Amino acid sequence: MNHNRDPEKIKGMFDRISPRYDLLNRLISLGLDMSWRKRAVEMIGTVESETVLDLCCGTGDFISVFHKRYQERLNIVALDFSAGMLTAARKRFSEKKYPRLLLGRADAMSLPCRDESIMGVTIGFGIRNVADRPMALREIYRVLKPGGRLVMIEPSQPPGKIMGPLFSFYFKKISPFIGGLIGGDKKAYKYLNDSFVAFPPPDKFLEMMQAARFEKTKAVPQTFGTAMIYYGEKPIRPF
Ligand SMILES: C[S@@+](CC[C@H](N)C(=O)[O-])C[C@H]1O[C@@H](n2cnc3c(N)ncnc32)[C@H](O)[C@@H]1O
Repeated sequence: MNHNRDPEKIKGMFDRISPRYDLLNRLISLGLDMSWRKRAVEMIGTVESETVLDLCCGTGDFISVFHKRYQERLNIVALDFSAGMLTAARKRFSEKKYPRLLLGRADAMSLPCRDESIMGVTIGFGIRNVADRPMALREIYRVLKPGGRLVMIEPSQPPGKIMGPLFSFYFKKISPFIGGLIGGDKKAYKYLNDSFVAFPPPDKFLEMMQAARFEKTKAVPQTFGTAMIYYGEKPIRPF
């Protein structure tokens, strides 16, 4: 499938859906996304006093999970290329209330971070939208400290004769319908579903992570396989 991941179009689309993104996210994932995020933060390991990066941060759901777990005992950098999503994130997380949070505009393919400065990177439902995923993975590898971890969540096609078709129907028909009804942008939600179909299967995506030199890579299915948590580490000795 030729799925167009033109960064300008994607940026505009996220700008448009940003005001209602949180509500829709909860509805479409039936509230399960927050439990997946908690698991992802646990998989990042103990990062007290360190700096973590939430990439493609959107409205900042990962910020709240990190903050609940560590309060002010952690620096959080949250980056996204959509101004609309960042505005929504800034409304939720003011710099006054979150003094150790830095919210900024950046493209995942060119990170404004020093080499080996970050202990953990999370991406929630973002990597599938990035135009050049191998380039983003190489950038993440560059900014991670040796021993640092990358954890990503993406929806996934569950196996089985019941869950498989049920999930396809839900993703193809129900979620664009909800997106159109509440978000007023059926096209955007149709795009999000198409981008899911165009995302490589877990074994191929793990190969992409390995090609970017990540080690101990794994794909951990969540909730009957409807989502996948991807994990990889930058080796302590990257030689
Ligand atoms: C589906 S939303 C997910 C937002 C958030 N991570 C979450 O879990 O709810 C995808 C986000 O990725 C951002 N994004 C897509 N491509 C990007 C890129 N190349 N660089 C930075 N952000 C990007 C979009 O602007 C959007 O906010």
